[in-house]
Amino acid sequence: MTDTKKSQHGEWSSRFAFILAATGSAVGLGNIWKFPYITGENGGGAFVIVYLLCVLLIGIPIMMAETMLGRRSRQNPINTMITLVDEAGADKNWHYLGWMGVAAGFLILSYYSVIAGWASAYVLKAFTGSFFGADAAAIKVIFDDFVASPAKLLFWHSLFMLATMLIVVRGVNTGLEKAVRFLMPSLFVLLILMVAYAMTTDTYDQGVKFLFTPDFSKLTGNGVLTAMGHAFFTLSLGMGAIMVYGSYLPKDVSISKTVFLIAGTDTVVALLAGIAIFPIVFASGLEPAAGPGLIFQTLPIAFGNMTGGWFFGILFFVMLVFAALSSSISLIEPAVAWLVENKDMSREQACIWSGSITWLLGFGTIFSFNVWSEFKIFDRTIFQLLDYLTANLMLPIGGFCIAVFAGWIMKQQYTEHELDMPNALSYQAWQILIRYVAPAAVFLVFLHVVGVL
Ligand code: PFF
Repeated sequence: MTDTKKSQHGEWSSRFAFILAATGSAVGLGNIWKFPYITGENGGGAFVIVYLLCVLLIGIPIMMAETMLGRRSRQNPINTMITLVDEAGADKNWHYLGWMGVAAGFLILSYYSVIAGWASAYVLKAFTGSFFGADAAAIKVIFDDFVASPAKLLFWHSLFMLATMLIVVRGVNTGLEKAVRFLMPSLFVLLILMVAYAMTTDTYDQGVKFLFTPDFSKLTGNGVLTAMGHAFFTLSLGMGAIMVYGSYLPKDVSISKTVFLIAGTDTVVALLAGIAIFPIVFASGLEPAAGPGLIFQTLPIAFGNMTGGWFFGILFFVMLVFAALSSSISLIEPAVAWLVENKDMSREQACIWSGSITWLLGFGTIFSFNVWSEFKIFDRTIFQLLDYLTANLMLPIGGFCIAVFAGWIMKQQYTEHELDMPNALSYQAWQILIRYVAPAAVFLVFLHVVGVL
């Protein structure tokens, strides 16, 4: 493989463009919608510590590995695995890794788009003043009524999928890059504003304490798995999204520095969301374990009662939709890149195919909140099952394989060359993490969940 190899889809115009796109992929519903509610369900502080440790010891080294694999091969994740397996003379079964990633992308996007649809609907609710002066009970009624309607959820899911496809159709430079350029900074500013509001509540200390004071007796084996799974989910790891973005990364960019920046931003955004939300949860007497509706039942109370709440409410949900869009485009990009490279499709055709499949799969999640809410497989609704299967199983398994491949199968001279670390010591640290720490940690968490440990 030569250093002059280029992706047929184009390249990011700069390091900054990659940072924006990869941060756009990482920062999304996972940080603002999912992190607070799973933290609430798993008892707070102890869960947050496990999550932070997983980001540092497993997420960051694997993110470097995934970016590196993509940049080396400059193709979609499936072809990346085929090319690199060939180059290393490794077993062909490694090819399945790329396939599993594409499958995980479809499954995640199918429910991600439904929840992003909720956020879109809340833009309209904020605009029409639905939250004005409302208390916790009224806001709960608004949420419950909304998710009880399959037609409404379908409408917003369809709209969100359409928006995703329209951006992805335009390709790397025009579509993806332009979209994320102004989204990320604005979201950040708005979150700070929400934190400022949370500081004005009497329960600010209680909220912060809940997030940062660990009580390990509240953390179950499944909680540990959820924390680890979320580290993968929030950093977009284990399914090829970061790999495919890495394949558009110019050669002269330092992978390690870039990855630290992206993972750092992602973590800060999640923590800010937590700090903004939990004081409101306690102030309004809500349950931290309220589940997927948590932010939709808390933040509107703040918007309904603060000065300028109408404006900030609209702005917040618009930003949330944009954050979701910059993630959803990365969930579908591996499949689209594969269809274009291998099936001779145009980007339009590839988007229509993959978008339609995801849209159809979304029905399972839509019905999980209403007509099929009692229909359970392994004690879970379809939405919960999809979430568990992807975030807790497919992404960690994918990440485990990426770690083993980058640490043990790929030739050291290639990884060293691609990563181009500032010094030998940092390369060695990465090698220890990717070879031993990350795979062992994933494995031990799995053993713990099945009860062997
Ligand atoms: N990281 C995104 C979030 O936190 O919302 C979700 C996601 C995007 C997961 C892309 C996986 C992925 F490949």
